Amino acid sequence: MALIEQLEKSHKEALDGLKKAQNEDQVEEIRIKYLGRKGVVTSALRQIKDLSSDQKKAVGQKANQIRNQLEEQIKQTKSDISSLKIEEKLKETTFDYSLPGKMPPLGNKHLISQIIEEVVEILVGLGYQVAEGPEIELDYYNFTALNTPPGHPARSLQDTLYLKDIKDSKKPKEEVLLRTHTSPIQIRYMEKHNPPLYIIAPGKAYRRDIADPSHTPMFHQIEGLAVDEKLSFGDLKGTLEVFVKRLFGEERAIRLRPHFFPFTEPSAEVDVSCSLCLGKGCRLCGGNGWLEILGCGMVDPNVLEEVGVDSEKYRGFAFGMGIERIAVLKHGLDDIRRLYDNDIRFLEQF
Ligand code: DAH
Repeated sequence: MALIEQLEKSHKEALDGLKKAQNEDQVEEIRIKYLGRKGVVTSALRQIKDLSSDQKKAVGQKANQIRNQLEEQIKQTKSDISSLKIEEKLKETTFDYSLPGKMPPLGNKHLISQIIEEVVEILVGLGYQVAEGPEIELDYYNFTALNTPPGHPARSLQDTLYLKDIKDSKKPKEEVLLRTHTSPIQIRYMEKHNPPLYIIAPGKAYRRDIADPSHTPMFHQIEGLAVDEKLSFGDLKGTLEVFVKRLFGEERAIRLRPHFFPFTEPSAEVDVSCSLCLGKGCRLCGGNGWLEILGCGMVDPNVLEEVGVDSEKYRGFAFGMGIERIAVLKHGLDDIRRLYDNDIRFLEQF
């Protein structure tokens, strides 16, 4: 058989084979059989050199054409097979890749953390700096230095959780306790820093309280302390007024009632006008019109002297508020224990 007919026959066979091929291995087999080093087309091409020169040209052209067409068809068949494979895979799985994704549940900050951040942001905006102190505290900082010496009647109100004495304490029989308020941070800060100073101190406090709707043995407070040369009770009131309006809304007012705290003189409790009746008295505030939110006063000179601040030259004011109490007032919580139940259905509402 003439070489050219042989080539055409092989070409046809190869094309038929490719049509029937089911997978990439079969295509590869065909490629080797016809175009491989010892393949039918390849060896035909090799024989061209023995032909007469006028045949050489015609056969050569035809052979090259056939080789190119075959190469092209092999490439095409391979890619058809692989896209078929992908389609089959997609059919096999029941997952619909075009569906919108599922959002994983996102956490949010605990309400207590949110309120602390809000209060801190307002007061930092008024020029205060954040200070911290230990939750395990010495009796000295929690009581004595705050003008509440042993035997002082104000101690029993806050009787707390006492820990073992520490032997290497500077003061030989120093009691160690869980702090009952954030006020000891006032002392710790003034020991290390000279006035003028403007600080706020958020943190946990502990008392020997049985948990009920308005008490938990652990709770949160934010302390404020300002010490400067010319501070007056008016500065304290103005500061609290701005603070309360920013926290609760411009329409709210404050009211100061005389009170007693050992470390301030004079002292006051601060009320905010009820969100519903704005002070007239309604069901929400129990007819009172006002809701208590914090304690405050002018720093007692004894406290300043205790940390070596000249009480003739400097005056201070201080305030302390409960974070849980603010949560109750802002969100109408009926029971602060819910803040610590860790029930996501409750916590994710805020
Ligand atoms: N430490 C007080 C308490 O826990 C709150 C308080 C009242 C803090 C008056 C102050 C203040 O700084 O001046 O009940």
